[in-house]
Amino acid sequence: MSVQKATAFAPASVGNVAIGFDILGFSVDALGDRVTVSRRAEPGVSIRAVRGVVGELPLEPEKNTAGRALLAMQEALRPGFGFEMEIEKGIPLGSGLGGSAASAVGAVVAANALLDEPCSKLELLKFAMQGEAVASGSLHVDNISPSLFGGLVLTVGIDHPRVKQIPVPAEVRAIIVHPHMFLSTRQARAILSQSVKMSDFVWQTANLAGFISGCYTNDIDMLRASFEDVVIEPQRQALIPGFQDVRRASMEAGALGCSISGAGPTLFAWATESHAQAVRDAMRAEFARRSIEVDEWIVEINSGGARVVESA
Ligand code: HSE
Repeated sequence: MSVQKATAFAPASVGNVAIGFDILGFSVDALGDRVTVSRRAEPGVSIRAVRGVVGELPLEPEKNTAGRALLAMQEALRPGFGFEMEIEKGIPLGSGLGGSAASAVGAVVAANALLDEPCSKLELLKFAMQGEAVASGSLHVDNISPSLFGGLVLTVGIDHPRVKQIPVPAEVRAIIVHPHMFLSTRQARAILSQSVKMSDFVWQTANLAGFISGCYTNDIDMLRASFEDVVIEPQRQALIPGFQDVRRASMEAGALGCSISGAGPTLFAWATESHAQAVRDAMRAEFARRSIEVDEWIVEINSGGARVVESA
């Protein structure tokens, strides 16, 4: 019998991972969005409710990230029935933790479970990308891909994306520290310069190559040496109060690197397991000195990505 209703969980994600602007990201299973999609007789998409930590999102499908993703799916597949959706937000808006991506990913994964001929994850990626564009005004995949596939994910290409899940040394943990403030992705993208100095280009390219090779070869020293964004972070750091101090504190506590999660204001660090708690405490203490409340998580970087958690 056909599935009438399915709920998917889609994890949060850290975009850019310092050196991979718009192309590299990792999933964070500790929080995420849950999206329930039901069949409805008429083709098209409707959004019944948005609940959870964010309530005030548009219910018009074309203005909603998850709605737009499902509209793209309807248009391409014409399944002969429509989608009705409810969204339970677990990821705060404007946090830099890939909330809009997770809603779009959760929506397409849940809707896929209703199809008689389900799509591949790569096909779902393209639908979810349409949704992400609503939120940030541009097509980028560094949150969508890890939320969908799980773990550390590199995406090459937009029209014909190629996705690579990259192994992360087993002893590495990610420390995520979310200060309670809102930062608009659109705004954080709008301030970026459209050109890059040649010397920065060389440095950033070396760091990205070093970082990826460090992951594949379990080379912790290489990760530490290459974990520096010399292009985007210098332009965005003023948007986050205390950024320099939090970063410095994390490095003094033994982090391999520390940078902005996506467009911010969440910051993240990587550290070996034995340093992770000290790094978290140091980052939290710097925000506390400025009376900024935070949520924080220490996670492994090996989640399975979005998945159906209920169906009927
Ligand atoms: N790569 C994107 C950015 C992520 O940094 O603007 C934000 O969604």
